[in-house]
Amino acid sequence: MNRLLGVVLDVEYLYTCVHKEEDADTKQVYFSLFKLLRKSILQMGKPMLEAQESPPFEKPSIEQGVNNFVQYKFSHLPSKERQTIMELAKMFLNQINYWQLETPSQRRQRVPNEETAGYKVNYTRWLCYCNVPQFCDSLPRYETTQIFGRTLLRSVFTIMRKQLLEQARQEKDKLPPEKRTLILTHFPKFLSMLEEEVYSHSSPIWSLEFLAGTTGGQIPVQTVISAPPVTRSLYYSASPVSVEPSTCGSVSPARKPNPTLESNPVVVGEKRKASEPLHHEENKRPRVMGDIPMDLINEVMATITDPATIPETSLLSAHSARDEAARLEERRGVIEFHVIGNSLNQKPNKRILMWLVGLQNVFSHQLPRMPKEYITRLVFDPKHKTLSLIKDGRVIGGICFRMFPSQGFTEIVFCAVTSNEQVKGYGTHLMNHLKEYHIKHEILNFLTYADEYAIGYFKKQGFSKDIKVPKSKYVGYIKDYEGATLMGCELNPSIPYTEFSVIIKKQKEIIKKLIERKQAQIRKVYPGLSCFKDGVRQIPIESIPGIRETGWKPAGKGKELKDPEQLYTTLKSILQHVKSHQNAWPFMEPVKKTEAPGYYQVIRFPMDLKTMSERLKSRYYTTRKLFMADMQRIFTNCREYNPPESEYYKCANLLEKFFYGKIKEAGLIEK
Ligand code: ACO
Repeated sequence: MNRLLGVVLDVEYLYTCVHKEEDADTKQVYFSLFKLLRKSILQMGKPMLEAQESPPFEKPSIEQGVNNFVQYKFSHLPSKERQTIMELAKMFLNQINYWQLETPSQRRQRVPNEETAGYKVNYTRWLCYCNVPQFCDSLPRYETTQIFGRTLLRSVFTIMRKQLLEQARQEKDKLPPEKRTLILTHFPKFLSMLEEEVYSHSSPIWSLEFLAGTTGGQIPVQTVISAPPVTRSLYYSASPVSVEPSTCGSVSPARKPNPTLESNPVVVGEKRKASEPLHHEENKRPRVMGDIPMDLINEVMATITDPATIPETSLLSAHSARDEAARLEERRGVIEFHVIGNSLNQKPNKRILMWLVGLQNVFSHQLPRMPKEYITRLVFDPKHKTLSLIKDGRVIGGICFRMFPSQGFTEIVFCAVTSNEQVKGYGTHLMNHLKEYHIKHEILNFLTYADEYAIGYFKKQGFSKDIKVPKSKYVGYIKDYEGATLMGCELNPSIPYTEFSVIIKKQKEIIKKLIERKQAQIRKVYPGLSCFKDGVRQIPIESIPGIRETGWKPAGKGKELKDPEQLYTTLKSILQHVKSHQNAWPFMEPVKKTEAPGYYQVIRFPMDLKTMSERLKSRYYTTRKLFMADMQRIFTNCREYNPPESEYYKCANLLEKFFYGKIKEAGLIEK
């Protein structure tokens, strides 16, 4: 079901891409992929690209060619220096895997005399197999360096080399000292030498017999260098370089992800898909006891995803979620969301200034008790940002906020939608976008002083008067308003807020269908129970005729502790034992991005012992199952990310064994 929901999200996303894309060739490819994914939902199959040729498209691959190059030119060097060259080669391969190819028309303009038909074929393949799958993970994804060869490398090498060197020069001050020589001295030389081999007609590195010829097949270098998997880090730093936030970032999903070297923290256009797995994760995912068989889900999904069964307009029925109409409008490009703000060190942008004035107007009209000058001051204050809702080029609503990353929260200062656009779901969709924006920026708490009349709205957005942020964190930071109520909202980073109501709706429909099926199967009527008439006061539930056929199962195999205090104490003791175990060290804290490149792209639901302790403290574990599921997640994640021979993998196995021993000891599962 998750996989199919993933495809549905990808279809929606591609739909927006088709509409927003201006380049005709790219648009055409998006459209073909859109149709392909839609078909795969209807047929409940895996999306299969129907191309005349399947990858790899040329041999040897770029990766193999670069390996051969290192072997050819540097095999005589001492091992330390060879190591440096390998590092350069890896960096280079990594760059290609995230390189944004120019479109065929851009290329025609840049190199007018070149024949572009061949380039267009490769560009299309690259979009289908490498680029689009980066943001639509229901499509199989390949690395550019593994499926393309010299032809593609030749078409990008010159421009790529120029841009990489230019960028290294511009950012040389930000380079860590240990990388400076590598990037500024060795890398240019490495690229010049490689360039010669790329364009030479007789270079041996592109020969399929290269290894046999030069080394007699003795040195297994083929697999020495490959681009590190799924990492977007810059070539000289493991963590992304921080770039000053620009004054405007698009939030609407129509934005095409930008996998170039620059990172722009304000842009949150890339689709966050916490809810569905990557396609390669799927097979590895452990089945949970009681899971509904996949075939059955597929069968049910077939009736649900059939467009004839759910026409788009039915989404807007009285039972539809509040934000559905807004989400559809956004998908069609009727409305847009942008995070904007004033800046003192960037040239004022006329459009943004106009929007800021528009926001100031909406807030002033909708919040008449706030002095106009005060609203103006905050909206134009560079420390405040505003998520603005734009319709027909005009501002119709927004949420002005100030982020306090060091304090772990964001203050919502003003929130309003213009009068004639209220109660259409815009307020909800605005808040959902704001939540996703903050999850991206790793701030998971909102605080706001809500107007008496707005308390209802904030409650519906998940705010409560029970504030989770410690007082010491916000006193002195947040502005205090008389007559208003302080409300807070804690965000859950696993929830894709703007898609949440659609996902829940689909899940509900599936469950409804499953119940209907079950009911159809068990139409048998059993005679009533007569034992009570004979004086029996109590019978075991499982002895009721027909009860098992309904799908009822005796409650878990272990003991569910009813008393919350007893459950808390038991879990606390188990967690303490686990944390003190000698193999617990890798799981004590959340995995740091800098230490495990690409971890959060691979692992969608991270978990660690510190987070579990916090959850336990906040009384989140109301059943043993919740607790066990989190702990199991730690082990499964570890085995998913790390190879079996790694230390971490072994620790996970040992700790898991220990944990289940403890759980049995406590009687929470059967011995
Ligand atoms: N009281 C109770 N419920 C409300 C209110 C309210 N004042 N306003 C909206 N709701 C409900 C809606 O009925 C809807 O509920 P439902 O899903 O059960 O039908 C839900 O909240 C969300 O409705 P949306 O259509 O998504 O929200 P809308 O686009 O109308 O925007 C907003 C809500 C921003 C509060 C808008 O009504 C507004 O601008 N009001 C005037 C300004 C205001 O009061 N702003 C908040 C001040 S506090 C502050 O800024 C920190």
